[in-house]
Amino acid sequence: MSTNARTSAAAGTPGVLAGLGAELSSEAEPGALPRHQNAPRHAPMGLFAEQLSSTPFLVPRAQNRRSWLYRVRPSTEHADFFPLPHPGVSAWGSHVDPNLLGWKPRPLPMTPTDFIDGLITVAVGGSAADQAGAAIHSFVTNAPMTRKALCSADGESLLIPDEGELSVRTEFGRFVIAPGDVLLLPRGARFSVDPLGQAARRGWWVEAFGAGFELPNRGVVGANGLAEGRHFVAPNAAYEVEAGGWTLVHKYGGSLFAAEATHGPFDVVAWHGNAVPLVYDLARFCPVGAVSFDHPDPSIFTVLTAPTGLPGRNALDLAVFPARWDAARHTFRRPSYHRQAASEWSAILTGPTSNRVHSRGGSSLAPPFTPHGITPDALERELSGKDDEKPRFIAETATWLQLESHFLLSVTDAWRDAPFRDAEFSSMARGAKVRFPLPGSRP
Ligand code: FE2
Repeated sequence: MSTNARTSAAAGTPGVLAGLGAELSSEAEPGALPRHQNAPRHAPMGLFAEQLSSTPFLVPRAQNRRSWLYRVRPSTEHADFFPLPHPGVSAWGSHVDPNLLGWKPRPLPMTPTDFIDGLITVAVGGSAADQAGAAIHSFVTNAPMTRKALCSADGESLLIPDEGELSVRTEFGRFVIAPGDVLLLPRGARFSVDPLGQAARRGWWVEAFGAGFELPNRGVVGANGLAEGRHFVAPNAAYEVEAGGWTLVHKYGGSLFAAEATHGPFDVVAWHGNAVPLVYDLARFCPVGAVSFDHPDPSIFTVLTAPTGLPGRNALDLAVFPARWDAARHTFRRPSYHRQAASEWSAILTGPTSNRVHSRGGSSLAPPFTPHGITPDALERELSGKDDEKPRFIAETATWLQLESHFLLSVTDAWRDAPFRDAEFSSMARGAKVRFPLPGSRP
């Protein structure tokens, strides 16, 4: 019925459905998509017309996101929702902790674990109920979500793998994503995540409460560079109609609920609109950077931003540190010591993995105004470097991701107490050798 959307093969190819915020359309059967109106009394082929509004109706046109789905059954066809107890998913983070925190890669599951089973909420800022804030969840999985679908009523979300390929079914079509890809899922859209192949998978599921993700303004950079809207690729419509029971899992107010249904949610034969799941290959990001001296702020690497309405104070900024030339002269090239106003969460998506925070699968959190920088060893290497005037091509072997939030990200019990937390992480940046001639040490 269709091909999977995979950025590496498809982005930028003529005829491929693409564009963040663009009005897109697709039909899996010829004639299934109404051409001249959204809700004809008799939709083509006996389908039901249904609107998915990912933003409130009165959101200005430039930010308004909605799609029309033409489906075999309306999505009202399910029983009532009931609370679904889950040991890992949490609406709140209970630890307001100003320390630097780091985690080694989360171990992969040894027993059958589907995507929902494998969720652990890492940290939450703000609240879903107030529609202001963000949440970061970890996932591991080694089993398909058989006859189960998930959606977040709380926010637009990003699925970010760091181990192996995932097959993702959505109401709009299918994706295959791999480490280095980011899959944007509209608020309220249903999806299922299955490991592709036999091996276990791992990654992050990130929600922005309130406004969804958009491309940041480029300012003086001009009309090109950074992330391009056309590299966000949508799937072709693909439907499945299977007899038998399904479970619809609904994340609402930070908690999970479940409803039984007699049919699956992926029976959409045609769709059009701009609230559409999209995959982006982080390797497509076109960075700008220092070509003379000093360090620009890491915001130059922002791929997507979820605004709050307060200029620059965003619920979530997603930045990637891509392979690039570092050409700044007479400059301290490594990320220097700093304290800053946002919660700063980092994860490593590709590259070698080991039982260390700074390897693929590892992650860390720098709370607002908690000082951080480089290790004493790295400082000494930096200061004694003999080739620091030469351009260097950096970040080739690993993809680092950073999420910045205006909200104070509080860590959950489950993640704070995880056995793979590195209790030594906060001390790693300490021990810089003083070079200033202190009183009493001067000749
Ligand atoms: Fe930082």
